[in-house]
Amino acid sequence: MTNSTLLQIDKDEARLGMFIHGFGRQWLRSPFAASQFKLSSHAELKTLRESSVTTLVIDLSKGVGPTGSTAGLAKPNENPTPANVGAALAKPTGMVRSIFSNAASSLSIDRQQVEAVVDVVDQLLYTRPASILNLTKLKTKDEISFQHSVAVCALVGLFARHLKLDSNLVRILSVGGLLHDIGKIRIPTEILTKTDKLTADEMAVMQTHPHEGYAMLARTKGLPEIVGKICLHHHEKLDGSGYPDGLKDGQVSAAARMVAICDVFDALTSIRPYKKGFTPQAAAEMMEKWTGHFDRVLLKQFFDCMGLKWPSQSAQTLEITDEMVGSAEADLNDF
Ligand SMILES: [Fe+2]
Repeated sequence: MTNSTLLQIDKDEARLGMFIHGFGRQWLRSPFAASQFKLSSHAELKTLRESSVTTLVIDLSKGVGPTGSTAGLAKPNENPTPANVGAALAKPTGMVRSIFSNAASSLSIDRQQVEAVVDVVDQLLYTRPASILNLTKLKTKDEISFQHSVAVCALVGLFARHLKLDSNLVRILSVGGLLHDIGKIRIPTEILTKTDKLTADEMAVMQTHPHEGYAMLARTKGLPEIVGKICLHHHEKLDGSGYPDGLKDGQVSAAARMVAICDVFDALTSIRPYKKGFTPQAAAEMMEKWTGHFDRVLLKQFFDCMGLKWPSQSAQTLEITDEMVGSAEADLNDF
């Protein structure tokens, strides 16, 4: 293949956002009228997978690469100014607002809407990674829950690709990241938006959101069980001190462990109206110190994925003060 942006793949590796350059010698078997186009709908993907084509050629300069590869992630022309970031994120954030709003009235999830958001986030990860990952920084008061959901969806998707997980699992984890906090729609606004530390009673109410979300997801037909488990267990800690069930070690699924890491990382690095966010490296320092909370093997992988140093390997270890830890714990009230 002479053009370095062209890549031949098996049809099972095809996914949304890929630009199909051709089918090589199998062009007669193509089920499509157009010879070159971007795969942009599940219907097209299904048609391709059910066709007699076995391989295809994609153009990495015009679309996403195979899952498990970071090919196509770097886009040197991207300019993530606040205005550009805002424009890129307006669409998925608005879509999540709609999912949450519909869920509040129907107490179930519109699965098609969820799939559509994951498609948008997935494409942004490849076409505008700096913009989508900047969502981990900026949060506005009215949109915090929606933006956090989009951010965790993006982080988990990136993390899963870094681990080279199967493309179906990447998709399921992204859905889980998007919906992990859906139960928050059942929590009173005054508790959700409280900026001071929650009282014990308020915390008890807040801690019902995993069960509330799980119940909603259970009413949604066709959602993989992993998504429900992510929602139910994303606040569990491996030493058994988490909630709602105080699970330990192997009782917490790997999927929930991954989302827990992305959830807390986004909470710590977010800039919100009433506080500065921690830098990613400071967040890493703190998360590494909370022994018993996270799966340390996955945590190390996550730091690698984000280009962060494992704290003990950092040439200049940050000094974490009690004030920083207290502030960080308060941040986790509302995530
Ligand atoms: Fe949560």
